[in-house]
Amino acid sequence: MNIPFPVKETIDSRRSARSYKLTAVDRDIISSIKDFVNSMEVTFEHNVEIRFFNADPTKTLYPLMISPPDNIAFMSETDIISISKVGFVGELLVLFAQSKGISTCWYGHYKLSELERLMPHLRSADDFKEANMGYGYSKGITTGRRAICITPIGYYDDSGLRLMDRMTNKKFSFKRKKIEELLENQNDYKNLSEDVLYALDLGRKAPSAANAQMWRFAFEDDFKTITIAMPVGYKHFKWEHPNVDIGICASHVWLGLIDKGYDPQVTVSDDSGRAVWRIGI
Ligand SMILES: Cc1cc2nc3c(=O)[nH]c(=O)nc-3n(C[C@H](O)[C@H](O)[C@H](O)COP(=O)(O)O)c2cc1C
Repeated sequence: MNIPFPVKETIDSRRSARSYKLTAVDRDIISSIKDFVNSMEVTFEHNVEIRFFNADPTKTLYPLMISPPDNIAFMSETDIISISKVGFVGELLVLFAQSKGISTCWYGHYKLSELERLMPHLRSADDFKEANMGYGYSKGITTGRRAICITPIGYYDDSGLRLMDRMTNKKFSFKRKKIEELLENQNDYKNLSEDVLYALDLGRKAPSAANAQMWRFAFEDDFKTITIAMPVGYKHFKWEHPNVDIGICASHVWLGLIDKGYDPQVTVSDDSGRAVWRIGI
């Protein structure tokens, strides 16, 4: 498997950007992102569609942020497995963009009516009502294909940082739990190989909504299979779709193993309302 960017360096340098220059992304870079999407090889079936759209800086799409011209919507069905695959596939795009000097930020909460105006994608007024809180795709159960998350793609602009962001140095904060805290069974730590620890270290650096880091790691098959899932019954009071984040984390672990020369097999299944990713080496 050939990953067209340096895995660790790209993951270590990515941060969510919430301030962008209002200039369009170089067309060659947009083409390279499109080529990457079309040639992306993952070892599981998926139905995730990446849709590019332009935003209007005078209208609110992202809360508290002016939209840069170029943006992407990650589209899929809304069952648990499909939205988790959005995380996995979408994060590969995010990292590829990062390696080209393009900033991103996953947004689960965006103004749905403005997205629909810019990029009509809902089937009916009922689709819109299902997401009746106005932000994001849904607070409850929905049907059909939808934009699950969106991201701006553009050039980071630190002169536009809000005072609060400067004071808290938000752009560069990278607070993450330690691997030990993310193991379902802490006693497993001593049995993990250097390569598995390398992959889990990249996994723990994944972005998650409100930086909740709801992923937990466990092992099967004499430590030859890593499982990644949220705890049974996990709920976050602000983010309704944490299985997206689990897919993001799984993509980092997968990339870490590829970086160490493995050809990891990936499956994802629904277990107690959670997406459970299994990555076998
Ligand atoms: C699925 C998902 C949804 C997110 N939704 C939002 C959002 O609606 N608004 C926002 O400002 N940030 C959002 N974020 C960005 C997270 O807050 C950010 O990834 C996290 O705080 C970690 O910071 P980092 O990405 O800079 O490492 C989202 C991230 C993920 C993975």
